Amino acid sequence: METKYINIDKDIDIEKIKEASEYIKQGKLVVFPTETVYGIGADATNEYAVKRIFEAKGRKSDNPLIVHISNIDMLRTIVSDIGKVEQNLIEKFWPGPLTIIFNRKDEKIISNIVTGGLDTVGVRMPNNIIALNLIKESNKPIAAPSANISGRPSGTIISDIKNELDGKVECIIDSGATEVGVESTVVRVINGIVNILRPGKITKEDIESLGLEVQFDKHIFEKVSEEKVMSPGMKYRHYAPNKRCIMIYSEDDNKMIEKINEMCMEYKNVIVLCNSKNKEKYLCNTIELGYTLDEIAQNIFRVLRQVDRMNGDIVLIEGVKKAGIGVAIFNRLIRACEYNYIEI
Ligand code: TXA
Ligand code: MG
Repeated sequence: METKYINIDKDIDIEKIKEASEYIKQGKLVVFPTETVYGIGADATNEYAVKRIFEAKGRKSDNPLIVHISNIDMLRTIVSDIGKVEQNLIEKFWPGPLTIIFNRKDEKIISNIVTGGLDTVGVRMPNNIIALNLIKESNKPIAAPSANISGRPSGTIISDIKNELDGKVECIIDSGATEVGVESTVVRVINGIVNILRPGKITKEDIESLGLEVQFDKHIFEKVSEEKVMSPGMKYRHYAPNKRCIMIYSEDDNKMIEKINEMCMEYKNVIVLCNSKNKEKYLCNTIELGYTLDEIAQNIFRVLRQVDRMNGDIVLIEGVKKAGIGVAIFNRLIRACEYNYIEI
């Protein structure tokens, strides 16, 4: 299959978006940008098209997809009811990087293929003008997982995902690096309490500021066993480079740096992923992740792919404080490290 590439810069070109929407209408696959990461999109109401997403990604069929919408009327066609707390979240955070789990309305509209056999469906309205217009022009909700082969870091720039998805999707829209860099926060409201199933740019603190009770699902920080989990995606190996990675963290920067330097001597041929402010402090090769947590979030998946293209046998990664968007970064890193984590 030949993949059509469409470049769209900051100024959106509605003709180009219409061209991409034709693929969606025909049940084909389109890689498109959102504010978080790129997605592999298909008409969420077309079972055949959605099946092809799973094939292109090599994704397990019990791992449900997020459905992307461009307006609230679309939401009403998909879900059976919108609770008060959910309404509150929608008003405050949509369009934006928040996925809300609802009860699905009708299996005939959103099939079991999309939901991985669950009676619930994850929905979000992305805050990206290309994504919103693509959904609008297609006049369909778009099911889309992150644009990467299952288990690999999510795609935030097209040059990273080209090798993985070229020839497997009909169209790729390239609009440069995505803004947020980590995927949306996934929440499910149970008995009025907002449960965070996957941390993201919308933080626990952001949601609490609405006066809501919020809790993290325990699987965010711990290894998931094969038991039933609320968010099936948490079961699977994810975000991992091919090289062995270890995360090291201490609240005291000096202790963290000292430990990493010790390990640099112990293992040979090490790459350290670090805050830009620490780059001169290491005895081995470093890659800068940025200064602020927002910058680190934006760069993390690109850098996790970069290490596989470099010389080096082992990757030591500076951990971050588990607060704000740091929770999302920590969650992705600990999984990239397959739970090899040292805290001092
Ligand atoms: O930012 C994002 O969310 C990106 C962009 C493309 O929108 N999408 C994304 O999709 O990250 P994906 O498929 O890579 O991750 C979806 C996550 C998985 O962990 C999945 O298990 C969970 O959301 N999820 C989806 N539907 C669910 C449901 N009904 N119940 C529980 N978890 C669900
Ligand atoms: Mg993903």
